[in-house]
Amino acid sequence: MHAATSAPQAYNYKVVRQFAVATVVWGVLGMALGVFIASQLVWPELNFDTPWLSFGRLRPLHTSLVIFGFAGSAQFAASYYAVQRTCQVRLFSDGLASFTFWGWQAVIVILLVTLPQGLTTTKEYAEIEFTGAVWMAIVWVAYAVVFFTTLVRRTTPHLYVGNWFFGAFILVIAMLHIVNHAAIPVSAFKSYSLYAGATDAMVQWWYGHNAVGFFLTTGFLGMMYYFVPKQTGRPVYSYRLSIVHFWALISLYIWAGPHHLHYTALPDWAQSLGMAMSIILLAPSWGGMINGMMTLSGSWHKLRTDPILRFLVVSLAFYGMSTFEGPMMAIKTVNALSHYTDWTIGHVHAGALGWVAMITFGSLYHLIPRVYGRDGMHSTALINLHFWLATIGTVLYIASMWVNGITQGLMWRAVNEDGTLTYSFVEALQASHPGFIVRMAGGLFFLSGMLLMAYNVWRTVRGASPERVDAFAHSA
Ligand code: HEM
Ligand code: HEM
Repeated sequence: MHAATSAPQAYNYKVVRQFAVATVVWGVLGMALGVFIASQLVWPELNFDTPWLSFGRLRPLHTSLVIFGFAGSAQFAASYYAVQRTCQVRLFSDGLASFTFWGWQAVIVILLVTLPQGLTTTKEYAEIEFTGAVWMAIVWVAYAVVFFTTLVRRTTPHLYVGNWFFGAFILVIAMLHIVNHAAIPVSAFKSYSLYAGATDAMVQWWYGHNAVGFFLTTGFLGMMYYFVPKQTGRPVYSYRLSIVHFWALISLYIWAGPHHLHYTALPDWAQSLGMAMSIILLAPSWGGMINGMMTLSGSWHKLRTDPILRFLVVSLAFYGMSTFEGPMMAIKTVNALSHYTDWTIGHVHAGALGWVAMITFGSLYHLIPRVYGRDGMHSTALINLHFWLATIGTVLYIASMWVNGITQGLMWRAVNEDGTLTYSFVEALQASHPGFIVRMAGGLFFLSGMLLMAYNVWRTVRGASPERVDAFAHSA
């Protein structure tokens, strides 16, 4: 607040600090829950015969905490930070910005309270019941007002490309959330979808896939476009490529949802359309990856000494990898093998751990010292250790899920000469057990890195000097 009174141009870093710390808190909790449910798949006794501790209820809580809590807070922090600095103007309305912080935290608390009780819409990634969904929409609209009004009030002549990505992420998520949550409420905690049958499935996966495309990709590309050039000290490789792949990405993503519904009651033409659009999606995805990677050309040597840059580069490599794997899995014949198996889970975490979490770590390590008035994070050695734990954890996770997924797919489809199934479901489950153990170990590596980050952030924050933040903000 003092920044606002001492100089109107100084930025609102308070809300950035709040969201940055929230990212770490929800990251620790969401990932710890990930490790817990991974352990339940190794030792089912960990369900303790207690409904609210059961895998079925904790799994959506894991996805909600990591997606909305961790990834959501990270994008709020990064977009609020980047939009002020690239537009050279203070964030619009301190009050509304603060409302988005507390309002968003309330959303996560609603999820924390309702999901373990089994209160859910049953729609994946949209489990929050109607009343919570309305609250979520209100907070999101406030976010849109803060972000876009700040853009309008900019003092710079042009709009930096990172803001295009943040803006698209905010607009499309609002549209998806409102359409998919359209429902008839029957009580405060129970509602029924406005759609039925195949239409309901279609709307849900139109939402679900674009939640991936916009909540777990587009906002993070915005983050990439700000933090990769900043950390390398070089301009974006190609401004033209960034605009071309932006429009291609957002106009293609929206059609790809039916690849989640191959071989279902959805009309065949819709499935084929989804498949075709997914394959074409490889091009704009790789456009972004290549643009990020090439921004480093001439600065590769910095990777030897800068673990923050290493996080950013490895995240781009995983982005490239998962956006190659996704289009392959969208091909109907490949999907016939991969669907329902752990291959999907491996793909998800190649994107979630390798891309989303790693780019967040790199960006936060860059941002946190700057908004707390420090010269750098408390310990660079700990960032380096975090990098290795996260990389090893991700590789263990996805490699074990590939092995499990292909094993499951092949065992389920194996038939004897007389047409009977070669393996029972339980046999395929037994064959998956070693992979579940390796995945749990990978999760533990990843979580340990996250805990190191929490410690490092705490030590950095403890030595904060707000006066220096103000000085910094003036000169930005
Ligand atoms: C320590 C790290 C993590 C561990 C150990 C972990 C573990 C798990 C487990 C065991 C599942 C259920 C798999 C199944 O049903 O067979 C799961 C699902 C999921 N997780 Fe994680 N997770 C971690 C981090 C994350 C992060 C950071 C994100 C997102 C940013 C994420 C997103 C998801 C999603 C979207 C699903 C649902 C996948 C689907 O339905 O296909 N996870 N996770
Ligand atoms: C060009 C980009 C991509 C394409 C075409 C694509 C395609 C696919 C396909 C075909 C599936 C399996 C659907 C099924 O069998 O049910 C899938 C699942 C999934 N993908 Fe991707 N993917 C892409 C990128 C990503 C990225 C970057 C992430 C994460 C950050 C991601 C997260 C997910 C999630 C969470 C699911 C599981 C959805 C569910 O069933 O719960 N994808 N994707």
